[in-house]
Amino acid sequence: MLDETITQNVSERYARAAATGEQMCCPAGYNFEDLMSFVPEEVLRISYGCGTPVGLESIRAGETVLDIGSGGGIDCFEASRRVGPSGRVIGIDMTDTMLTIARRNAPVVAANLGYHESNVEFRKGMAHAMPVEDHSVDLIVSNCVINLAPDKRKVFREMYRVLKPGGRFSISDIVSDRPVPNYLIHDTEKWGDCLSGALQVGEYAHGLVAAGFLGIRQVHYIPWRVIDDIHFLSVTLAGYKLPRPTASNGVRFATLRGPFSWVTDELGQSYRRGVPEPVTPRTAQLLKTPSLESLFLLSENPLPLEPSDPRWLAILPAQAPCVWKGDYAIFTGPCAEVADDDTHVFQRGKPLEICSKTLAVLSADAYSPHFAMINRATQSGTGASVSCDPGGSCC
Ligand SMILES: C[S@@+](CC[C@H](N)C(=O)[O-])C[C@H]1O[C@@H](n2cnc3c(N)ncnc32)[C@H](O)[C@@H]1O
Repeated sequence: MLDETITQNVSERYARAAATGEQMCCPAGYNFEDLMSFVPEEVLRISYGCGTPVGLESIRAGETVLDIGSGGGIDCFEASRRVGPSGRVIGIDMTDTMLTIARRNAPVVAANLGYHESNVEFRKGMAHAMPVEDHSVDLIVSNCVINLAPDKRKVFREMYRVLKPGGRFSISDIVSDRPVPNYLIHDTEKWGDCLSGALQVGEYAHGLVAAGFLGIRQVHYIPWRVIDDIHFLSVTLAGYKLPRPTASNGVRFATLRGPFSWVTDELGQSYRRGVPEPVTPRTAQLLKTPSLESLFLLSENPLPLEPSDPRWLAILPAQAPCVWKGDYAIFTGPCAEVADDDTHVFQRGKPLEICSKTLAVLSADAYSPHFAMINRATQSGTGASVSCDPGGSCC
């Protein structure tokens, strides 16, 4: 199928939905009661997102926010409230019906917020060729749109172009646990359903890193649908365009605290827990992002860490039998590859079958933000427990 055909079908689908107020797509998690206090019902009715990329990201007053695929404008209006009258919001969408509804409601929202005039502008445009100036945006948000774009690499490159150095993104989108097969990719109807264009989360992150983004992490995930054994999830991902490097930022070494026993970061450098590694100024900037700062100690001189140090972080599996129940862990970031203390190596986006013991470990607070969990068992069963070697592991 040609990219233009996909785009035209998707646009017609959303134009129809907006015109009729049809319910579409996915679980989003908005606080509608709160939104109803300033966003008209006409906008809320055509909210077709799969997350809350604006609500979960801390927006600062005065910032410029860009929403890719703004639809009826729900996230733009929430961003408008958060950036305040001194901030600016730009919504981009390719579908005229969506733009008409969003533009009609912008002055209503501004009045409800007590603004002299609206700080939201809706522009017609494509995600892969955005009508936005270079380096002009502090935060990019997008809600259930990039899966609909046939050429994601171009979208990611555009995102990088328009963000200021030091800028960030927060994107909710549909991803899959395994590659979407051709019979779904070439199903016109399923593109509009946010299925055909879904990437695996590892591919998604890889595409963002290839465009220049770093520190890509999962903010939230919601299991959504299982179709022909493919698990589709809604994930909200955040990431950074690092600031321009400064000559010296006082950080020359990084020591991994845990909970992972070792990690390889997105720039290819590996770290073992407790062992200080020399880092470049660029790596130091990456490790300082909110995605990674809690995993590392950054220092000017080498800082080895002992297991007795309270900053050392390890979560060991219980010495108990394990039971296989169909659980799979998908590591979502913010590194390329990590290991736990029980011989598992997790590559970003690659589902790994885990037993009940490992599920308990990865459900701990220190681990859980880095994983999405799925269960592939089609029948419920208790499974026989497997005894583990006390000195080693069984899975
Ligand atoms: C699933 S709806 C989500 C709308 C909005 N973000 C929300 O949360 O309600 C997808 C929107 O993205 C727009 N869209 C899809 N693909 C696009 C593309 N390649 N470029 C620009 N807009 C696109 C559609 O017109 C539609 O308004």
